[in-house]
Amino acid sequence: MSASDVIIALDFPGREETLRFLDRFPDERPFVKIGMELFYAEGPDMVRELKDRGHRIFLDLKLHDIPNTVKSAMAVLSRLGVDLVNLHAAGASQMMRAALEGLTRPDGTRPLLIAVTQLTSTDEAAPQGELLIDRPMEETVLRYAKNASDAGLDGVVCSPLEAKKVKEFCGDGFLTVTPGIRFAEGGTDDQKRIMTPALAGKSGCDFIVVGRPITRAEDPAAAYRRCVSDFLGK
Ligand code: C5P
Repeated sequence: MSASDVIIALDFPGREETLRFLDRFPDERPFVKIGMELFYAEGPDMVRELKDRGHRIFLDLKLHDIPNTVKSAMAVLSRLGVDLVNLHAAGASQMMRAALEGLTRPDGTRPLLIAVTQLTSTDEAAPQGELLIDRPMEETVLRYAKNASDAGLDGVVCSPLEAKKVKEFCGDGFLTVTPGIRFAEGGTDDQKRIMTPALAGKSGCDFIVVGRPITRAEDPAAAYRRCVSDFLGK
């Protein structure tokens, strides 16, 4: 898999809308993200269909359960042939190691596995007030990233603003996959901590996940190409 790439978030309610969107990319097969909405609506067949069309797939289901359940679920996802999957680092090391075991195919290959540290939608008030977690957010994010790295995972989902620190803390080869990407002149929607594709490329982000700036663009393929060239600096 190429070391750095743009992943388009397919935040669509169903197959029809998804294929209509992808048909606007006659010349390329972008790396795409299937999240809960599309997966719960269309199931594994959607994954198989997009794989057959030549897309690489990040299946963003954020697993979090007891180790044995996560291991079995990961084995199913691995057989689907996805390229990248994730789980919540809050499930702790035993769950993360079990996930890796489940993902590993008989021939020793497996999809990349990354951990969600803190959802970017949570601010410090929720963990501290509701959940009785009294550490600063940055400390939690870095600790969760280190736990994931020590468990053998390939990287984390984080804000582009955290990518550099995660690399410093966990090593340069530890992948950072970052949503919250916006072109300088566009709106921010509901994303709060954003970065442009160009700056994300310079900040140590390995993969950027881009949804609305591409899916809602008048010309999605042009917006995608601009994203790729800004991000990769080409
Ligand atoms: O449209 P937009 O570019 O904001 O889409 C970002 C994508 O990344 C969405 O699918 C969103 O669910 C996902 N995501 C995120 N923040 C996270 C984890 C995932 O925005 N912390």
